[in-house]
Amino acid sequence: MHVFRPLIVVLALAGTILIVRNFIVPSDFGVHESGYMYGWYRKSNEGEWKAVKVKYQGKEYCQDCHAESDQQVRSSRHNLIECENCHGPALEHPSNPAKLAIDRGRELCLRCHTHLAYPTSKRSEISGIDAESHNPGGDCVGCHNPHQASKPH
Ligand code: HEC
Ligand code: HEC
Ligand code: HEC
Ligand code: HEC
Repeated sequence: MHVFRPLIVVLALAGTILIVRNFIVPSDFGVHESGYMYGWYRKSNEGEWKAVKVKYQGKEYCQDCHAESDQQVRSSRHNLIECENCHGPALEHPSNPAKLAIDRGRELCLRCHTHLAYPTSKRSEISGIDAESHNPGGDCVGCHNPHQASKPH
């Protein structure tokens, strides 16, 4: 007899969970056309992702309008990185925004060039400097051309 009491508690709990689930799980949640490949998801989430605007365009996007910058960057050590790493997301530039930001501050460069001793990581292959001893006070771009990164000009 004493085993039935806990059994009833467990059944009541399971029942409550099923009822609550019925209210909080969206009606279009389930397995859809592509079968189990993507597992369980909410169907209306597909449309939500399609509506997300691309923020970063990649450097191919810039080359027709900014041929000179493109040429310079490509033949420099910074060919490894994206224009948008320094100028921010292009979004729908040049219609919106009409101009991308130009940041001449040290912080921009220190994001990648602060010397870090991570011997087993690719990060330490980027030439690093110590911000406190490497020409403090001056903007990096006063001595280094960011589009022709190699030796200072
Ligand atoms: C369809 C042409 C077009 C494309 C594509 C384009 N730009 Fe521009 N960009 C312009 C125009 C026009 C201006 C405003 C005029 C100017 O300052 O040269 C501008 C301004 C800028 C400025 C500010 C220049 C300044 O002197 O203030 C930056 C930085 C810039 N663009 C970077 C980029 C980058 C990076 C990309 C690629 C992700 C890009 N642009 C793609 C046409 C374009
Ligand atoms: C490492 C950071 C960095 C990268 C990468 C970079 N830029 Fe710049 N860019 C700058 C800075 C900083 C300036 C301002 C330079 C100055 O005034 O001394 C600038 C200036 C510009 C200007 C204004 C005109 C000029 O030449 O001064 C344009 C346009 C521009 N960049 C486009 C691009 C495009 C297109 C790319 C990619 C092909 C690119 N930039 C990559 C940092 C960068
Ligand atoms: C998104 C990361 C990133 C940013 C931001 C960045 N760089 Fe670089 N930089 C690199 C990479 C990657 C290289 C190529 C590997 C190397 O030479 O260290 C490089 C190379 C260089 C070199 C050549 C180093 C050498 O040993 O020849 C200089 C100089 C340089 N960058 C200066 C700057 C300046 C100045 C800024 C800021 C305007 C800047 N970088 C911003 C990633 C970055
Ligand atoms: C007053 C001019 C000046 C300023 C400002 C300056 N540098 Fe330099 N930088 C140099 C010179 C000269 C060299 C080459 C000699 C050396 O390694 O010190 C150099 C070398 C470098 C190197 C290559 C180091 C290596 O190991 O080969 C990097 C990366 C670099 N600077 C990044 C920066 C960054 C990032 C800033 C801003 C935080 C900056 N520099 C500010 C003049 C300057």
